[in-house]
Amino acid sequence: MRYANIRAHLNLSKEGLMRRFLVAGNWKMHGSSEMTADLISGVARRAFDAASLSEKRALAYDILVCPPAPFLVQAVHDADAQYISVGAQNVSQYDSGAYTGEVSLAMLAEVGCEYVLIGHSERREIFGESDQVIAQKFAACVGFGSEVIPLLCIGETLSQRKSGDTEKVVAAQLDAVLNEVGIEGFAKAVIAYEPVWAIGTGETASPEQAQEVHAFIRNKLRGLDKPIAEKIQILYGGSVKPANAEELFAQEDIDGGLIGGASLKVDSFAGICEVAQRLSHDRV
Ligand code: PGA
Repeated sequence: MRYANIRAHLNLSKEGLMRRFLVAGNWKMHGSSEMTADLISGVARRAFDAASLSEKRALAYDILVCPPAPFLVQAVHDADAQYISVGAQNVSQYDSGAYTGEVSLAMLAEVGCEYVLIGHSERREIFGESDQVIAQKFAACVGFGSEVIPLLCIGETLSQRKSGDTEKVVAAQLDAVLNEVGIEGFAKAVIAYEPVWAIGTGETASPEQAQEVHAFIRNKLRGLDKPIAEKIQILYGGSVKPANAEELFAQEDIDGGLIGGASLKVDSFAGICEVAQRLSHDRV
């Protein structure tokens, strides 16, 4: 297990027990080998500058990049010295076998992936992944000792929000996974609340709207296991950019972001990382 993974698992800050920020980039189907190299080195440079070089080995928060599968090996190699974690965007629920086109957890672990996105709304909507399939993928991670940490994405559509069903939808998405793995399955996991209407639209949930749902999620988990609920990182995703990251990350139950569009450019991704660095000091 690499250094960042151990730290993320324990979720410890230098100062003791508190939730560290995680800034995660979801590149979706974008990128190239050149971009992988440039982005990782550029973000690392900016992050370490912001943290001041003396703190180089102890950023106050964690950075994760999730490139397309063909660039994972390179990303792990490029990121290794810099303590940026690498995650995959998807994984099979099966261990191995005749599943053409699929990639297993063991394969991801072998190449050094520390995280995997599970149940992104694009997987749900475009590729028809059901709550059940998503729960199976999450369960596969748990069965694998969460050596590859599942980052579960949940969130409502615009019509669901308009009809007042946000909490119902989010609870049902969580329940599907809880029914499969129990609350213990969340001992080493990350959740991302991503309102579908805010993804790639430029429209962001207001800090209050996001905090409300984050608190709802944490409270739901608190009812099942308080320590797990207090420890789990709940990221916000949906048009996060440097200009709005600060007010979002300042919310009590928002522990970082899952960033799409803004993770594709050094300037914007590093800008969001710098917010996490700054606000980490307020969290002590
Ligand atoms: P966005 O995407 O930041 O481009 O809205 C977020 C996501 O899909 O995870």
